[in-house]
Amino acid sequence: MRDNVTVIDHPLLKHKISIMRDKNTGTNEFRKLAEEVAMLMGYEALRDLPLEDEEIETPIEKCNAPFIAGKKPAFVPILRAGLGMVSGLLTLVPAAKVGHIGMYRDEETKIPQEYYCKLPKPIEDRLIVLLDPMTATGGSADDAINQVKKAGGTNIKYMTIIASPEGIERVSAAHPDVQIYVAQIDRGLNEDAYICPGLGDAGDRIFGTK
Ligand code: PRP
Ligand code: URA
Repeated sequence: MRDNVTVIDHPLLKHKISIMRDKNTGTNEFRKLAEEVAMLMGYEALRDLPLEDEEIETPIEKCNAPFIAGKKPAFVPILRAGLGMVSGLLTLVPAAKVGHIGMYRDEETKIPQEYYCKLPKPIEDRLIVLLDPMTATGGSADDAINQVKKAGGTNIKYMTIIASPEGIERVSAAHPDVQIYVAQIDRGLNEDAYICPGLGDAGDRIFGTK
């Protein structure tokens, strides 16, 4: 595993992801779990947020207390499935900006097709946290990171719930400057480039479109 990959290994995450994997878990519960998993992962992924002391007054006395410093971070879901992670992260940082990158995999070639990109401005010096629950071939994440870099982003993290070994290798090798957070790395891909055992099509499961 490359240095820029952190596997967030926690029994609560494992338990919740196991429920998500179950094909009998319905949309309502799946959506709630995606939110919770994103929040738990975000707690770890955001542990290096910069702090700055400000003077406040408690009921007892004045003191210098730490607050999150710098430009507000931006959460950027890769549509559609990444949307399912946004609210969990906004629970942690309610003042964050939200950008969107629209991308879908061509059913035949599995190559990502971009259809939308709206990122917060200014983007320089802002922490950009890209979100996508699934990293299969890694093509969507690789392209989305390239889009953020092309727009001027330099401080980038990528959060993904389940990845294939080849997907995580592709993204971490192509972007050694991007910190990658993943909860589980699965066995591999099937002939349709779906993660095995995975959880199926995350977008369909979040939005009930199957
Ligand atoms: C899924 C998933 C990722 C992508 C992963 O999206 O949410 O974006 O596939 O595959 P990759 O690593 O091989 O690129 P999909 O293309 O199904 O679009 P959707 O979220 O709109 O359903
Ligand atoms: N996209 C998904 O949602 N799931 C997979 O297993 C692969 C791509």
